[in-house]
Amino acid sequence: MSPNASGWRSVEIVLKGARRMRVTGKIAEIRQWTAEARAAGKGIGLVPTMGALHVGHASLIDEARRRCGFVVVSLFVNPTQFGPGEDFDNYPRPFERDLALCEQHGVDVVFAPSAAEMYPRENLSWVTVSGITEHLCGRSRPNHFRGVTTVCTKLFNIVGCDVAFFGQKDAQQCVVIRRMVADLNMPLEILVCPTVREADGLAVSSRNQYLSAQQRKDAPIIYEALKKGREMIEAGETDPARVRERIEAVMRRAPALQIEYISLVDPETLEDVKRIGRAVLIAVAARLGPARLIDNIVVDSGR
Ligand code: PAF
Repeated sequence: MSPNASGWRSVEIVLKGARRMRVTGKIAEIRQWTAEARAAGKGIGLVPTMGALHVGHASLIDEARRRCGFVVVSLFVNPTQFGPGEDFDNYPRPFERDLALCEQHGVDVVFAPSAAEMYPRENLSWVTVSGITEHLCGRSRPNHFRGVTTVCTKLFNIVGCDVAFFGQKDAQQCVVIRRMVADLNMPLEILVCPTVREADGLAVSSRNQYLSAQQRKDAPIIYEALKKGREMIEAGETDPARVRERIEAVMRRAPALQIEYISLVDPETLEDVKRIGRAVLIAVAARLGPARLIDNIVVDSGR
């Protein structure tokens, strides 16, 4: 099976038992299928992805399966959220493996459109969330969130989902999408699921496959550093500068890590906190060879 010019051909994969998974690249077709599911009284869950699926995505699909009668996964490497010089061309696209994972996890429909199906003409209409998109990753990726919010709006409109599932690893993305949905009265719920980690603590990410063996050994230091920050806060530290210093010191143990930011921010406004109060989001981004890695932890000290 391979994608044609406008994305995946419509196919039906018959699974053991009565269930079947359908795959399409066509907006008209996915609309028809979700309308039928809705008419049959099923709630529709969407897991939006860029493919290269892993256990983190599988956990989102499983949650969608638990909560919704009809589960759609979108596979679309969205060009509008990549900046110049970023990894759009190299982003992994293992479509057959992605389909196999979707089948194993009980997905009803995979929507895998082409760029031409999603953006058939010059795109003049953008969804922009201000303020919260300018912190953290927004500083080094100026149009990234505009691309994310625009494509998510399109996907929500196309699929007509009741719930969309996102992973906490992309903490800022979750905050931005939740805010967009609230501000624009979009009729769906955003459900954020916990970050899935490898046994050594590294947050699972499609970009981990860019790492060499040595870089992969270094990468878990990011989560180790975040945990150190959490320990300090739980032990009563309220000064964000001291926590940041300690996190940086741990990360410096892997000299190949190029730190982009270590930020302690309000989990909703994403503004730097001056003093650590009740809940704080510790977010980090670092380059490790060809990979840009992000991770975060929310610490609720209960103070
Ligand atoms: O998190 C991602 O994989 C992407 O940003 C998303 C939400 C699928 C939009 O392209």
